[in-house]
Amino acid sequence: MQLIHTVSELRARLSNEKSIAFVPTMGNLHEGHIELVRMARERSSCVVVSIFVNPIQFGPNEDFDKYPRTLEADCARLQGMADVVFAPSVDEMYPEQQTLFVEPPPIANELCGAFRPGHFRGVATVVLKLFNLVQPQIAIFGKKDYQQLAIIRQMVIQFNLPIEIVGAETSRAADGLALSSRNQYLSAEERTEAAMMSRTLQVAGKTLASGRSDYAAVEQEAAGVLAKRGWQVEYVAVRNQAGLGIPAAGCRKLVVLAAARLGKTRLIDNLEVCL
Ligand code: PAJ
Repeated sequence: MQLIHTVSELRARLSNEKSIAFVPTMGNLHEGHIELVRMARERSSCVVVSIFVNPIQFGPNEDFDKYPRTLEADCARLQGMADVVFAPSVDEMYPEQQTLFVEPPPIANELCGAFRPGHFRGVATVVLKLFNLVQPQIAIFGKKDYQQLAIIRQMVIQFNLPIEIVGAETSRAADGLALSSRNQYLSAEERTEAAMMSRTLQVAGKTLASGRSDYAAVEQEAAGVLAKRGWQVEYVAVRNQAGLGIPAAGCRKLVVLAAARLGKTRLIDNLEVCL
């Protein structure tokens, strides 16, 4: 495994690679990230993982400064799994002030985007830059960040990028909590309570599978359960899987998405429901 910090070294190292599978991350790797790397390994002879906490996807009051940076431990975990770890500095990724951006589709202003203005513009822009640098044939993203995955898929189609996007299932702790670098912000008490998010989504999923199509009521019930337990709920939303729009009558491929704060920690999760 080779650790590379600069664009010029990266380009030189990858110039003769014909089949690259790419896993973009912000580091502080957990089993969910590692599963993505395993999937990349199965698909390609050259696996590139990027580790970059991207300032332009964080809002002014978000956790950019506090986001855990653990490069040494990350590299130790990737030993024998990744061929190249690309960990640029902010100046290396943004040698001049970024004044051109990927303008994401309107869905980027809903769900998480409604609570994190500009977030998906920052994500789409850095992912396009990373795609241009790494030039992979395949890139793996987690369904944990369902809206992000949907927007990246649209970007790849609409900008004609020759990259296959693979969606990976969400890795969870034994109690169902979706693994996330942000889980470590939780106190012991909050960590126990955190499992309620996936449980609540499971209940909503069963309700939908039983045939209910009054989506707004299902959303409100789930949000109510969390709110009563002290969560500050941002949204619970039933959407169609494809474009994350409001499901048309008879839509059979649904996803329930949720974002809520437990104390100061913002958690997201989702559950696909196929009828
Ligand atoms: P990060 O939060 O580090 O996540 C990197 C990748 O790991 C994303 O595709 C995310 O969906 C996936 N992932 C995280 N937790 C997961 C879990 N429990 N199960 C499965 N996959 C999981 O997402 C980002 O970084 C950034 O926005 C990035 C795409 C790197 C752009 O900066």
